[in-house]
Amino acid sequence: MNMDGFEEARVLGVVGAGSGLRAVIDTIEKVAPTDTPVLLEGETGSGKEVIARLLHERSRRAQGPMIRVNCSALPSELIDSELFGHEKGSFTGAHQSRLGWFERANGGTLFLDEVGELPLAAQARLLRVLQDGTLERVGGGKPIHVDVRVVTATHRDLRAMSERGEFRSDLWYRIGVFSVKIPALRERMGDLGELATHFAARAGIRLTGVPLGIHEEEIVALSAYSWPGNVRELAAVIERAAILGGGRKLDLSTALGSVVRPQVADALRGALEEENFLSLDDAMRGHIERALRRANGRIEGKLGAADLLGINPHTLRGKMRKLRIDWANFRGAESRDGYREKLSA
Ligand SMILES: Nc1ncnc2c1ncn2[C@@H]1O[C@H](COP(=O)(O)OP(=O)(O)OP(=O)(O)O)[C@@H](O)[C@H]1O
Ligand SMILES: [Mg+2]
Repeated sequence: MNMDGFEEARVLGVVGAGSGLRAVIDTIEKVAPTDTPVLLEGETGSGKEVIARLLHERSRRAQGPMIRVNCSALPSELIDSELFGHEKGSFTGAHQSRLGWFERANGGTLFLDEVGELPLAAQARLLRVLQDGTLERVGGGKPIHVDVRVVTATHRDLRAMSERGEFRSDLWYRIGVFSVKIPALRERMGDLGELATHFAARAGIRLTGVPLGIHEEEIVALSAYSWPGNVRELAAVIERAAILGGGRKLDLSTALGSVVRPQVADALRGALEEENFLSLDDAMRGHIERALRRANGRIEGKLGAADLLGINPHTLRGKMRKLRIDWANFRGAESRDGYREKLSA
């Protein structure tokens, strides 16, 4: 493996690897070669599955299988048989023996998505596999050894769940030895331009074979929305805009209209109408925000926002205060706490 983490992330289409997700990618890079379980935490649509796949690709198991199991979609009476397999005749309807997901993932990675939805009984059995690396099929007496790296993901707060008794705390310690927090899109708005550009190009290629572009003004308008559905919501809006634009342009105002606050759609229309002349303050605000985005929230230093704008950092801070620009919306990965380690109790 001679590609570095950022190069690999780029090849796998992870946008923001060098900016808003930098701390996450750095952490993944460190933990990937180990067999330690990893817990990916993040809001819906923030990219947990994308990071899980990168983790697998960067591990020594990359040539082995990567299997994703959505724990919230397993019917509770079949969970054991799904995860651990069963022997023929072990219950009504078990006409054949069946390999469970753990055995199928042997030599590779088992990605347990939405692990917070696993019922308590299944949690106990999962803990046992994690502790001694062996499992028993349903209806089978002998322990079977498996060599599986377990990666889990959740949008829930497992600590709070374990305090309420809804999640086993011993399991939480085990799967959360190493947890990686994937920031919400609104906490890394500096990535919005690159993400929107990526999705516009992809949508164009899908529809007509030609990548679509996106205007800087449109990106500024998209930044006014907080994106509660994160990257998935952004991708969906751009895909819809490309379809509405007949595959030849993005019709973002219509695509956004039904989803976002009307002001954002208005801002977008305004940004694209030449006769809608911006006030000096609004133009300045837009330009400062662009500089902050490009500098990934950094104000000082070479290629920091002040440097890009050709003013001194003190003056820039003063203007940001006056224009009520919130620096927190632009700061990038450097200041984020991308992970925390928990000690097993
Ligand atoms: N950094 C990224 N670069 C490119 N595409 C991304 C990135 N993050 C997320 N996506 C895309 O956004 C969508 C949602 O990502 P993903 O499925 O990984 O999110 P998730 O956190 O698992 O969401 P959920 O909690 O809803 O399962 C996917 O289509 C994915 O390809
Ligand atoms: Mg997911």
